[in-house]
Amino acid sequence: MHVLSTRRYPGPAFDELGDVEVFPLAAIETPRPDIEGLIVANEHVPLDLLPSLRVVANFSVGYDRIDIEACAARGVIVTNTPGVLDNATADLAFALILATRRRVVEGDRLVRKGEWGASWAEGWIAEELSGSTLGIVGLGRIGSAVARRARGFELEVIYAQRHRIDTDLGEYRELDELLAEADIVSIHVPLSPETVRLIDARRLGLLRDGACFVNTARGEIVDQDALVAELVSGRIRGGLDVFVNEPSVPGQLLDLPNVVLTPHLGSATRQTREAMTRLAVDNVLAVERGDLPLTPVLPSRA
Ligand code: DGY
Repeated sequence: MHVLSTRRYPGPAFDELGDVEVFPLAAIETPRPDIEGLIVANEHVPLDLLPSLRVVANFSVGYDRIDIEACAARGVIVTNTPGVLDNATADLAFALILATRRRVVEGDRLVRKGEWGASWAEGWIAEELSGSTLGIVGLGRIGSAVARRARGFELEVIYAQRHRIDTDLGEYRELDELLAEADIVSIHVPLSPETVRLIDARRLGLLRDGACFVNTARGEIVDQDALVAELVSGRIRGGLDVFVNEPSVPGQLLDLPNVVLTPHLGSATRQTREAMTRLAVDNVLAVERGDLPLTPVLPSRA
């Protein structure tokens, strides 16, 4: 099977693809009937230019930029990389929780500018993690990994999602209740038509004064303009790994002391990225052999 990969994905598994060319999708201008397999990183797939396509292996758990229904209608299998990035993403969420709650980046900037100044007894007071309430929006695989980490930090965990589940990882709350109660809110729902702007201006207004709002899921789940307004007002603190229209970041955030910004690093560990490549390649090879893919995205779930 001739495979087009939009980049050389990390790790040794990539070399197991025999017949592969590395090429950005945007560079395809005329139909390419020779291409049967595609590896992308949550990118729009130009189905009209790929008439022989059999499989799209998405190097990402999120597939919000891939038209799953259109692929299904054409008989194209789509796969993603669930499971292998839960720990890495949960670690990053926790890094942002710690950094925002304990003012780590603010302190770092001050030290570098030679503005340490305030005496250690009075300066840079923050709020402790232990005893605080962490509100997890979406207790799926990644949200659950965050909840498990929260135990070690002695946080009280509450969660909101479409359906209450039988779990000892946290107590269920309606979303509005969770937002009003939590000291720290961390977003872990996938982006879908139902979750676009799930956290809108009204819901952001429910957050407690001083709350930390952490997003490692997708920027579009939050009304970004309303979030920026809350952060600029200084009423809440933010740890943001994802944005609407990445890689652009709202300019108003860049100088705010109460915000920690990272460039969509959730899955960016060597181990996880290599495991994502392994899974994407295994999905392509399975389809090539005529086997079922390991981690298909089913149109009914899209
Ligand atoms: C994912 O896998 O969805 C990560 O956010 C990378 O896009």
